[in-house]
Amino acid sequence: MTSDDQYTPHPKKELVADWNTLIRTFLKPEDEASRNILLKYMEPILFGLHSFLNKHVGITEEVSLKELAARYNSTHISANPEKKLADVITDLIEDIAPLAVNVASPYFIGHMTSAIPFFMVHLKTIVAALNQNVVKLETSKVVSIIEKQVLAKIHRLIYKKDQAFYDEHVQNPYTTLGCFTDGGTLANTTALWVARNAAFPPKDGFGGIENEGFHSACRAYGVERGVILVSRLGHYSLRKASGLLGLGNQNLIPIDVDDKNKVDIDEIRAKISEIKKDGGKSKIIAVIGIAGTTETGAIDPLTALAEICGENHIHFHVDAAWGGPTLMSEKYGHLVEGIEFADSVTIDGHKQFYMPMTCGMIYFKNPTLMEHVAYHSRYVNRPGSVDLGIKSLAGSREANSLILDSTLKIMGSKGYSLLIEHGIETAKNFAAEIRKRRNFQLVTQPELNILTYRLCPSDILEKLTQASVSEKQRINDALNEINRNTQRIEREAGKSFVSRTTLTRKEAYGGEIVVFRCVIMNPMTDMNILNEILDEQENIFREIFENGDSVRRLLS
Ligand SMILES: Cc1ncc(COP(=O)(O)O)c(C=O)c1O
Repeated sequence: MTSDDQYTPHPKKELVADWNTLIRTFLKPEDEASRNILLKYMEPILFGLHSFLNKHVGITEEVSLKELAARYNSTHISANPEKKLADVITDLIEDIAPLAVNVASPYFIGHMTSAIPFFMVHLKTIVAALNQNVVKLETSKVVSIIEKQVLAKIHRLIYKKDQAFYDEHVQNPYTTLGCFTDGGTLANTTALWVARNAAFPPKDGFGGIENEGFHSACRAYGVERGVILVSRLGHYSLRKASGLLGLGNQNLIPIDVDDKNKVDIDEIRAKISEIKKDGGKSKIIAVIGIAGTTETGAIDPLTALAEICGENHIHFHVDAAWGGPTLMSEKYGHLVEGIEFADSVTIDGHKQFYMPMTCGMIYFKNPTLMEHVAYHSRYVNRPGSVDLGIKSLAGSREANSLILDSTLKIMGSKGYSLLIEHGIETAKNFAAEIRKRRNFQLVTQPELNILTYRLCPSDILEKLTQASVSEKQRINDALNEINRNTQRIEREAGKSFVSRTTLTRKEAYGGEIVVFRCVIMNPMTDMNILNEILDEQENIFREIFENGDSVRRLLS
């Protein structure tokens, strides 16, 4: 008899919270039927994740957000239990999972979230079961030691220091090569926190910015503001960090990009000269290079940025949340050349390390730089202890390092390099296919595995290049509407998902252009699937064309 046969939903009898039941919930399922229901669902999750997700979760189910909001509007916590564990698991799998998004589908090519190797679920489960808190050694012991080791492994991947350096620092309680964070946002925030404090350290009569705050720091250093320079394609987490650190997000200064979406080096130089001429009113806290911009995947010229920072004694941060793992590819590692000169580097675990949500990391070239954000308390995190909470922005933290450490052993850098190369090469082939189709325009050529394109028939493109500024704008507005609608219709149809963004292309097209943004990281996404996606978009376009006045006017 299968577990399906054994299990029937628990009848509606009143459930009561009592001490014995409570204690049992710490130890085991309530009965054999509950155990069977857990096994029924956990087995396919643990051993056949891909087919499980395909069966249970479409890319999306056709239910409006309004309808969902109406379904989930209860604000009451019942005093006694509402459901048994088996019923809750059944709800999660049968009712909720199908309404979530199947990010594991190879047709889901719209975001930096994708399928993960099936064993990640096992590793995550073990980490949850161990429930270590790596804020301090007393709740983690060997796990904190392993965390330091895995941080050193990734540090070595980035900075390639010699063996003596790692012998000295891998387990040194006084130095820190990096830190796990909740994600890229907090990794960037940590980098800028350190850079800010390093820019306004304690000196005679001044206790440092961390201690006395921004206003006193400005007074002590005779400046009026602290600024950070980054390409205008910088992730919005940098603005959050600037706000949070008291610098003001308007002091995150956006620098224009070239036609390949890389930060314009001449503009950076010009901006730094301009700032230096303002009579010392502004202190440059950091310059940020991006190794894989969120929208187009472009990599800034990191070596040139490092040189500028070196000449001007500015903290150089690289946001490699996306592109960092490219370092593991022998074939494409050169794309992120110059990252080794960065004072700090952000890398996300839950992006191209294919870890489950959520995991970010921040690394520092100088193992003592995190001293600028060290905090101690009397009950933990005492000076000289291995307590990792001394220098982390977060307090309590899960043992993500165990997942990364185990995964590096299972995959090897070669395994990751195969994934990276598949993504980059499939993106290049996809770009070539887009170029071949007369209804599409490739907008950004992929450097990594991200590309953008739009529906723009070749005759319209021709017209655009010759049009006056106002005509350009008119055509472009109509194209934007078509692309916006196509993306929405495709998303709502629920078979595939490509995201959408808006890029600034003033000279060429008279304004902002709406594009499809495609991120290829699922190893099961191939050219057959990508062709199906383009076919689907072309079909939607034809329908819009047949039914839409504005499109016909545009083409006339
Ligand atoms: C370049 C870049 N930096 C930072 C982030 C923020 O990362 P997270 O969402 O993990 O906080 C992202 C997210 O997409 C990103 O693409």
